[in-house]
Amino acid sequence: MNKCLICEAEYQSFVDFGEMPIANAFAKKEDLVDEYKFPMKMGFCKSCKMVQLAEQPERERMFHENYAFFSSTSNYMKEHFKKFANSVCELQELNERSFVLEIGSNDGIMMQNFVNRNIPCLGIEPSKNVAKVAREKGIEVLTEFFDLKLAENIITKYQKADAILSANVMCHIPYMHSIYDGVKALLKDNGVFIFEDPYLGEVIEKTSFDQIYDEHVFLFSALSVSHLASMHGLELIDTEFQITHGGSMRYTLAHKGAKKVSNNVITRIKNEMELGLHTPEAYSNFSDNVDKIRDDLISLLIELKNKGKRVVAYGATSKSTTVANYFGITPDLVECIYDTTPIKQNKLSPGAHIPVLPYDQFRQSDPDYVLLFAWNHATEIMKKEKEYMANNKHWITYIPKVEVS
Ligand code: SAH
Ligand code: TYD
Repeated sequence: MNKCLICEAEYQSFVDFGEMPIANAFAKKEDLVDEYKFPMKMGFCKSCKMVQLAEQPERERMFHENYAFFSSTSNYMKEHFKKFANSVCELQELNERSFVLEIGSNDGIMMQNFVNRNIPCLGIEPSKNVAKVAREKGIEVLTEFFDLKLAENIITKYQKADAILSANVMCHIPYMHSIYDGVKALLKDNGVFIFEDPYLGEVIEKTSFDQIYDEHVFLFSALSVSHLASMHGLELIDTEFQITHGGSMRYTLAHKGAKKVSNNVITRIKNEMELGLHTPEAYSNFSDNVDKIRDDLISLLIELKNKGKRVVAYGATSKSTTVANYFGITPDLVECIYDTTPIKQNKLSPGAHIPVLPYDQFRQSDPDYVLLFAWNHATEIMKKEKEYMANNKHWITYIPKVEVS
């Protein structure tokens, strides 16, 4: 039994991946002594509806000066965050006297849009290397972890915020009560807190189990977010589905009673209850569904190997660490992973030790099959590689089921 990070009730795990490494710990061979691992299990708390990791490595092991995830590697995501920022400008009627804060601003992919519009803003980003890239774009960044204490310092040194934004960060942070207390203190009376994260409903429906890795301590739903908000005098006032990261949800929160609650919050929660996300039954087949994908993919990779076919992978995603390690995909089944991120290149993938090579070498490699680890960017990537892949090469995808195209 585990104790819920939100309401402290006891809950049970519904999927157990065994020992897993840090998803973004790409390393040189010589630095791979005593690779850190932790037991990775996910559970559902019946009491407050939160889906969560039973254990998470300490934050400094994941977020530091060599953090490997740079947000701006995807052109689609650049466009996504431009639209996100524009929608906040409209919603809150932002101007030169407003103040916007982003928690987990990474390389400035979202904040650069506020800087371009002369709207005062501040990024909070503890991973120093990605924060440096944002600063080079003219964005002011505090290289610290956001929590209540930092929120109080920001109020003293800056001002309260018209909008607090965060994308793919809230689900990384176990100390949610300190975050929500900080947000509550920092928001102006008519301010909004808008964040988006991979959506629980999609993970369950698609069996996108690879959204579960060390950094993702929570998988949120409107049910769990509205409960958490109500514990802190905040209120969920809107939800909006996003196709990013394989299916995400954008949640808008405000001070309780300050703004009208959109009808779609009620509809979303109703829909989640119809899916049964508030009951343990929704999670009972998840583990078996993951194992079916594992058996199908491993059988396919072994069959291809026996036929002398060459398989490489595309996108050294955090998600692929769960796939490769839980499935047992080693370099004898998948030769290497091609990726555009310099810090990951010419290193070995965490745990499975598959070499990561610069994307520039992909087209000369001439594989027969390409395993798409970055499946969430399928539209962007498949479009980019269409001509090359037309030459008798095949994609392998595995969410929601194993397919060759
Ligand atoms: N918002 C970006 C980055 C997501 S990656 C995007 O959607 O692409 C998650 C980021 O959150 C990392 O850059 C990490 O350093 C940062 N982070 C983790 N814990 C944090 C905390 N407590 N406060 C602020 N940022 C945090
Ligand atoms: P992503 O799926 O965004 O993240 P996560 O780490 O959260 O699972 O990671 C995308 C990875 O794929 C990143 O390492 C960059 C790489 N990539 C390419 O190599 N080429 C591309 O065209 C795109 C879009 C991504």
